Amino acid sequence: MKAVLCTQFCTPDQLELADIAEPQAGPGEAVVRIEAAALNFFDTLIIAGKYQHKPPFPFSPAAEFAGIVDSIGEGVTGFAPGDRVMGNIGWGAARAAVAVPAEILVKIPDGLDMESAAGLTVTYGTTLYALRERAGLKRGETLAVLGASGGTGLAAVEIGKIMGARVIACASSDDKLAFARGHGADDTVNYAREDLRGALKRLGGEHGIDVVYDPVGGPYAEPAVRALAWEGRYLVVGFAAGEIPKLPLNLVLLKSCDIRGVLWGTWIKRAPQAQRALMTDIVQWCAQGRLKPHVQAVYPLAGIAAALKAIADRKVMGKIVLRP
Ligand SMILES: NC(=O)c1ccc[n+]([C@@H]2O[C@H](COP(=O)([O-])OP(=O)(O)OC[C@H]3O[C@@H](n4cnc5c(N)ncnc54)[C@H](OP(=O)(O)O)[C@@H]3O)[C@@H](O)[C@H]2O)c1
Repeated sequence: MKAVLCTQFCTPDQLELADIAEPQAGPGEAVVRIEAAALNFFDTLIIAGKYQHKPPFPFSPAAEFAGIVDSIGEGVTGFAPGDRVMGNIGWGAARAAVAVPAEILVKIPDGLDMESAAGLTVTYGTTLYALRERAGLKRGETLAVLGASGGTGLAAVEIGKIMGARVIACASSDDKLAFARGHGADDTVNYAREDLRGALKRLGGEHGIDVVYDPVGGPYAEPAVRALAWEGRYLVVGFAAGEIPKLPLNLVLLKSCDIRGVLWGTWIKRAPQAQRALMTDIVQWCAQGRLKPHVQAVYPLAGIAAALKAIADRKVMGKIVLRP
């Protein structure tokens, strides 16, 4: 079967498309035939050896997928061949089939297509964990989302609205902001044109911003913290801008505010039941049409280099998906 392989830390152009053996389901595992594998920003890092996880070679990029159960191993209950499922395995999904622990799989409801389902687990899972478990976002609070048209950012716009927040989408172009508005954002800030701190202070009014969701970092972190409300919460989600920001701690003292880390990939291992509950909500909201995950483009496995370059070049709104 076909697989994209990373045989050494490399650029997108150096990834290889290879023929490898079909996987077999071991005890507790299911083999899933992949219909769609979604890419994330961290796939641009993992192949370059710049991510916190460094898988043994050769490995395939793409953490999350949707597909059809092909076979099940000994001891698997609750899943059968033919089931439509989705899941996250950290890396390894850019291939025609995978053997995965059955316990990580979530069934895809009728009416949710494979391409949308493929990109739900990481971005929406991270975001619901961030906003519900880490920020304790409350109805009526103001939420500012940086990188609001990206994978995690768009999820924060949509989930923030479902949780009853007023959402301020922040991004680098008017097209991206119009897109975020189309997914529910109440207000917008173009941080390529306008000073982020000033804009958030204006939109937050005297009270300030209750929660900042930041998957971008770089030059935007400190201005966003400076716009926080008394006892506001700033969520450290990621560093797509490349630079890991440093903050003067007096800002935290002066506002009695919190800087809260979000490490979803580890939380799901520490609290697998809680993660399942969270995915149940996400899948239901999709089935009800309350979440509208957006797939910007679908590439064949052979197109992975172009797909990863589009993500690194800030050209993607929503998600990019591979179809083996
Ligand atoms: N903490 C966790 O558990 C967790 C889970 C998933 C992802 N993450 C992290 O979250 C970050 C965002 O992931 P994502 O999948 O949402 O990425 P994405 O879809 O590529 O979106 C990232 C956004 O960051 C902005 N950006 C600013 N400077 C950039 C640059 N130099 N290169 C690329 N983008 C830049 C872009 O928006 P503008 O052009 O509008 O600025 C872009 O839309 C990554 O660092 C990822 O590793 C963390």
